[in-house]
Amino acid sequence: DHRPEHQGYVVAIDQGTTSTRCILFDHAGRLVAVAQREHRQHYPRPGWVEHDAAEIWRNVARLVPQAMAQVDAGPADVVAIGITNQRETVVAWDRRTGDPVGPAVVWQDTRTADLVEELSAQGGADRFTDVCGLPLTTYFSGPRIAWLLQADAGLRRRAEAGDVLFGTIDSWLVWNLTGGPDGGRHVTDVTNASRTMLMDLATLDYSPQMLEVFGVPRRSLPEIVPSSQVYGRARTVVPGAVIGAALGDQQAALFGQTCFSPGDAKCTYGTGSFLLMNTGSEITRSSHGLLTTVAHQVAGEPPVYALEGSIAVTGALVQWLRDNLGLISTAPEVETLARTVPDNGGCYFVPAFSGLFAPHWRAEARGLLIGLTGYVTKGHIARAALESTAWQTREVVEAMDADSGLRLNSLRVDGGMTSNNLLMQTVADVLDAPVVRPMVSETVSLGAAYSAGLAVGFWPDREALRRRWHRAGQWTPSMEPELRDRGWEDWQEAVRRTFGWIR
Ligand code: G3P
Repeated sequence: DHRPEHQGYVVAIDQGTTSTRCILFDHAGRLVAVAQREHRQHYPRPGWVEHDAAEIWRNVARLVPQAMAQVDAGPADVVAIGITNQRETVVAWDRRTGDPVGPAVVWQDTRTADLVEELSAQGGADRFTDVCGLPLTTYFSGPRIAWLLQADAGLRRRAEAGDVLFGTIDSWLVWNLTGGPDGGRHVTDVTNASRTMLMDLATLDYSPQMLEVFGVPRRSLPEIVPSSQVYGRARTVVPGAVIGAALGDQQAALFGQTCFSPGDAKCTYGTGSFLLMNTGSEITRSSHGLLTTVAHQVAGEPPVYALEGSIAVTGALVQWLRDNLGLISTAPEVETLARTVPDNGGCYFVPAFSGLFAPHWRAEARGLLIGLTGYVTKGHIARAALESTAWQTREVVEAMDADSGLRLNSLRVDGGMTSNNLLMQTVADVLDAPVVRPMVSETVSLGAAYSAGLAVGFWPDREALRRRWHRAGQWTPSMEPELRDRGWEDWQEAVRRTFGWIR
């Protein structure tokens, strides 16, 4: 296509939990360039997880020009920039210097356990779900901000004076891209804001009640804006380019999978795994341990909501086998190792490293490897690790079915772990439903690009995007029903045994 209005690229920045990626897409939605870099994970105490926000920003500033150079693109070739990010991770920074005032506290971090426990004791973990759609757990960003403010009186004074700003990674990147200390915009998109516990799902603004509960000064928080709209122009990295979108990575994947109709769902397999179902413009409350969240909002339109089943540890378990146990030397080897045995040998692995997320929400649970005998080899452990991802998927699918009253008849998947054929077959087997992967597996980046391209008119509408979705792979269930039922019971028993470990 050589029409001048179809020339150029959308730049997607995907700032994830373990790495940052910059991907360029052309008008046909083809991936034309990609640059990636990992950043350091800091584990200062059990249950604590931190990132260096300055390192993350340096990586972004370096990767974007690297990706652009692969196709000889200059700033004038960039139609729009779309940002997507690991959600619920909190950055605090100095408005004048632009420096982070401490480590970024990552979404997997459980340091807020006592704080959320205390608040739950006064009315239950679900006491605020009517307002924000979320239970009181260590996962969300608002309690993290409250924790930082409680731990440091000096920080609170500076935040109240407007000298320290808070934000999730989307805010941090937009602020830096639009000039940083020199006039940077302090905004957050509505999907990221819907993970703070501070936003009222109905008004899409901060809830005065929640700000009060967590003691967070409003002036230290970013303004909440739609996910697809013109945020402003970049002053650095790609000077002059329009920033057209920001959205949480899981919401971006839902958008990239073109799940635009109520009932459309996808599961993204990354560090953690996240199953989201579009529920349309109505706020749907869960009674089975799922979250209510904003899926996306196009400027000038009402928001679209979603139900989400969040699993904290899936790909992270494979990395743990590699980095902490040295069982494998690269992540893909886990499949080879798991294939050395025909089954799990009776072994189950519940990776409750950050407690358990959906549908259990057990902050005090810890990981467990059970069913060990002299017969069990590292092959069985690799297999049990992969199966844990499949069983955890089944847990959230069952909750989704119960909440929606529908039965998911197939599951759209994406993310790094979908290249693991054994895993995808196991997911299909334990769900007893086909699993389908699209042509572009970089769905998170694609969703950010689609959102940004829509904002600037590079693509006309969502229908045009939906026509670009093509199936690349499918796995069909082939497991004996009795085996599936047995495994499911064993898994549920193993999960129960992780409860109440931290006393
Ligand atoms: O809620 C956390 C999620 O946004 C992290 O995603 O892909 O970085 O593991 P990912």
